[in-house]
Amino acid sequence: MSAGFHRRAGALWCDGVPLARLARDHGTPAWVYSQSVLETRWKTFAAALADLDPTICYALKANSNQAVIRTFANLGAGADIVSIGEFARARAAGVPAKKIVFAGVGKTPAEMAVALKAGILQFNVESEPELAALAQVAQSLGRTASVALRVNPDVDAKTHRKITTGKSENKFGIALAHAREMALASRRTKGIRIEALATHIGSQITDVTPYRAAFARVAGLAKDLRAEGVGLTRLDFGGGLGVVYRNETPPDLSAYAAAVRAAVKGTGFGLVLEPGRWMVADAGVLLARVVYVKHGGAKRFAILDAAMNDLIRPTLYEAWMAVEPVAKPRAGARRAYDIVGPVCESGDYIALGRDMPRLADGDLVAIRQAGAYGAVMSSTYNARPLAPELLVKGRNVAVVRERQTVEALIALDRPAPWQRR
Ligand code: LLP
Repeated sequence: MSAGFHRRAGALWCDGVPLARLARDHGTPAWVYSQSVLETRWKTFAAALADLDPTICYALKANSNQAVIRTFANLGAGADIVSIGEFARARAAGVPAKKIVFAGVGKTPAEMAVALKAGILQFNVESEPELAALAQVAQSLGRTASVALRVNPDVDAKTHRKITTGKSENKFGIALAHAREMALASRRTKGIRIEALATHIGSQITDVTPYRAAFARVAGLAKDLRAEGVGLTRLDFGGGLGVVYRNETPPDLSAYAAAVRAAVKGTGFGLVLEPGRWMVADAGVLLARVVYVKHGGAKRFAILDAAMNDLIRPTLYEAWMAVEPVAKPRAGARRAYDIVGPVCESGDYIALGRDMPRLADGDLVAIRQAGAYGAVMSSTYNARPLAPELLVKGRNVAVVRERQTVEALIALDRPAPWQRR
């Protein structure tokens, strides 16, 4: 049996299940994930870096469904979290606290306390006030926090401006020189122990050169600091490895691994990595139905029952995502469609001017590489309930998140007591 997304007699399947059957049984829009693809991605990544024995902390933000996290946790994953909500998700899915790194520029003291009591691997600290706050929380709890200073290496990751993080004008990380001062100054601060340097220069990175530059700078600083008596034991090189949405040529795993290896090998430092997108993008699709094909004045529109509230990447990042008919594609001339949703905004689109086999009302389509930053970024704008998530394994299908009901959505609100019912 073929694993993952593939065509059989022209129709799109996930593992041993036709997507058309999932649409019939569970409705649309719906997210569909392949467990076999998730597992393969994890194992492939881990194998490529095995000689460096990294702690691989899956970046939950890419897809934090319990079933997805659990798939990785069962393979030994750690987690990269950015909120106490993600901390709870990681723990609930079986990730040991000892394998959790806590990133993000705005951790609150309350969040720090929870993670500290649980004994996480490290706090990736991004500023001086944050380090001071962490020291204070730790002292008040009589504990010592393991800290990685997140360094901003001032390297251009050459990715979309909204997901680049390693330039000096970005809000992330601490400038190299400043990180050095902070590390030296806090050698004797109670409540914190600086054990690592961390960096993450951006997401959907398709060129290995900025990686090499960033890793070299961070490893260089770590060696200097170690020589000056800072007890550093590991390096955290973040995530960011790009995937193929269209015609990108991201570094293959061996090129990425070589860049990591060049900076770490022989230094004696341990290694933490925080991949997100690479692990999950290919493992998911957003399944949707064409409600109407509309011939506008200048354009042809395919109006889906999925919209920007479900999948915001196209309009937020001008992201190109593949859209494929689920049934055997119609023969004959292809046409250009604006593939849009029903939300009342002109920015509500999945694809613009997309050349497609002819579409008709009622057709099913699959938006590919939607396993990463898809469901997690959904909203309920226009009172559209969150779509369900389905996990497929062989011929088995599990609803790993139910479709939200409109009633549940409304139930979060209540009239003020002085308003008559
Ligand atoms: N570590 C840190 C500190 C991060 O900020 C991120 C992603 C990752 C790891 C994981 O990066 P990945 O391996 O997934 O590239 N919503 C955007 C992507 C935002 C990424 C934010 N940080 C998108 O849909 O393209």
